[in-house]
Amino acid sequence: MPSPQLVLVTGSAGNVGQTVFHGLLPHFALRAFDRVPTPGATDQHLGDLADRAAVDRAVAGMDTVIHLGGCPRMEADFMGDLIRPNVEGLWHMLDAARLAGVKRFIFASSTNVAFGATGLPQLTPGTVHVFNPYGATKALGENLGRWFHDTYGMEFLAVRIGYFRGIYNDPALREAWLHRIWLGPRDCAEYFRLAVVAPRFGYGVAYACSRCPENYLDLTSARELIGYEPAETVPDAP
Ligand SMILES: NC(=O)c1ccc[n+]([C@@H]2O[C@H](COP(=O)([O-])OP(=O)(O)OC[C@H]3O[C@@H](n4cnc5c(N)ncnc54)[C@H](O)[C@@H]3O)[C@@H](O)[C@H]2O)c1
Repeated sequence: MPSPQLVLVTGSAGNVGQTVFHGLLPHFALRAFDRVPTPGATDQHLGDLADRAAVDRAVAGMDTVIHLGGCPRMEADFMGDLIRPNVEGLWHMLDAARLAGVKRFIFASSTNVAFGATGLPQLTPGTVHVFNPYGATKALGENLGRWFHDTYGMEFLAVRIGYFRGIYNDPALREAWLHRIWLGPRDCAEYFRLAVVAPRFGYGVAYACSRCPENYLDLTSARELIGYEPAETVPDAP
């Protein structure tokens, strides 16, 4: 039997992170990295993304990195909230990963890379119109990932995650626009599992959502690159 893939999940104690970590635990040999403990993780590194030595230790020996750690807030202040985790930390993760020989880097991007393009019937992976400084840090990640792939051959997938809370009874789902980008917990875990096991795809950008009205997020590249097909349907407004 082949030995299991070694996968590092950053941000593993967070909202998306715990879903991905526990969803992938039966499939791979996982390591958790976060600044706070990840429940249920046996191999875990506590540290800050802006601490290069901690990042170097975390990526050592890994085949694949799923990079979810960072500041996820749309209203975040660039200098105060984003620079260290989403810019410095992002660089450390990418650079440490390629030096450690990581083969595939899966990056939590966001629809905030594209939300500035109001009035479009659908957002495609080619849509880049940042909505806020947070979205700009995700666009940076997508572009740095392209450069790391072109320069060093490290595979890179930017996953533009829709709206994820990991629970069904979510009062925020009263807001109609969230229904167009909702990602359910089972689809979320399966999406990242597929991103790890998919045959070589090189570089890609893909949205991640469940079955939502209007197909506002174009899932074509998610289907083509990793074979993702949503199984959950966005729940009715609570
Ligand atoms: N939840 C969503 O709807 C959504 C949508 C699009 C993109 N994303 C992206 O997915 C990722 C996870 O989002 P989330 O909703 O789980 O957020 P979250 O805040 O629940 O989780 C983020 C995790 O990263 C860790 N972290 C933050 N800064 C760190 C640092 N400097 N060093 C080490 N660890 C640090 C936190 O401790 C936390 O556990 C983020 O990159 C976010 O931008 C989330």
